[in-house]
Amino acid sequence: MPDHSNALFPSSATSPGGVSIELDSVTKTYPGQKVSAVEEFSMRIEPGELVMFVGPSGCGKTTTMKMVNRIIEPTSGSIRIDGQDVLGLSPHELRRHIGYVIQQIGLFPHMTIAENVATVPRLLGWSKQQIAARVEELLETVQLDPAEFANRYPRQLSGGQQQRAGVARALAADPPVMLMDEPFGATDPITREKLQSEFLRLQAEIGKTIIFVTHDFDEAVRLGDRIAVLSERSQVEQFDTPAAILAAPANEYVASFIGSGAALKRLALMPVGTVRLSGATGDLGGRPSIDPASTLRDALNLLVVTGAEAVDVIDPTGNRLGQLTHADISAALTQAGLSGSAVR
Ligand SMILES: Nc1ncnc2c1ncn2[C@@H]1O[C@H](COP(=O)(O)OP(=O)(O)OP(=O)(O)O)[C@@H](O)[C@H]1O
Ligand SMILES: [Mg+2]
Repeated sequence: MPDHSNALFPSSATSPGGVSIELDSVTKTYPGQKVSAVEEFSMRIEPGELVMFVGPSGCGKTTTMKMVNRIIEPTSGSIRIDGQDVLGLSPHELRRHIGYVIQQIGLFPHMTIAENVATVPRLLGWSKQQIAARVEELLETVQLDPAEFANRYPRQLSGGQQQRAGVARALAADPPVMLMDEPFGATDPITREKLQSEFLRLQAEIGKTIIFVTHDFDEAVRLGDRIAVLSERSQVEQFDTPAAILAAPANEYVASFIGSGAALKRLALMPVGTVRLSGATGDLGGRPSIDPASTLRDALNLLVVTGAEAVDVIDPTGNRLGQLTHADISAALTQAGLSGSAVR
């Protein structure tokens, strides 16, 4: 890939991952409105961090996000990416260096999938060969076979496939920053879950700095390094790791967002291999067994479904590491306690 793609943000040239994003007292008041859509929003996002914005419809998530790439101009405040004041950059230039997946996908209907993905590289003046190679690589990355999908039009793809093409397009010029506005919003639960795991795998490889908007708190818990729970005017009610928010919601508002089953959601964040096991190692008891990479939620599920008193924890080499009982699982949860221990 041509290296001029990231020239705008110097440290992205030396470290392939993301760059920091800082918003400082950012306010947006739309023309003719008495109340601000976003009021005094401040946040620092670390390089390579995936931050989830969760909040009700109309609370200002999209507005906040669109100010980062200046599709919407802030009324006041400052925004820095990689330490640079973005308000001092050309908005067109800026947008070529920030991947953006808009709410409702927004593929160009009269362009093929390949042409859609090539949009930004073309604007950046890459050669034909460079663009073709990149398009092929990206379609493979998001698991859309180029031979099958490159020359189709968006309407010839399913909703989930269009979402993936949208993600590929946003990644095209390898931007250090990605803004994703409910990118999986329009998909059924099964496709959504699939897209989420593909996305986690992808982010583990590319380590971009990402702001990701969602309505779905469970999606935020699954994907986010940190979650910002927002209320009206984009007020930050809590900004912390999923484990910490689940263990200790800052207020009633945040608690209502978590909904029921906070303990179960916390268990889903705790790998079996990170907690204290009971029982002896070595001998196999003929009980149901589970892999150390599974979560405590999986272990509990297995206990409930099989009616067993304990499940054996067996590593991939067949070595029995110990067992987990209901009491062990409760103890692990209590021990993680209010510290929220970010087991991710
Ligand atoms: N162009 C505009 N002019 C006036 N008000 C607007 C404009 N765009 C958005 N708003 C208002 O600003 C507020 C925040 O809108 P925004 O689109 O940021 O919400 P959101 O959190 O993304 O909502 P959703 O979850 O429904 O996408 C809303 O009250 C909305 O009506
Ligand atoms: Mg929105």
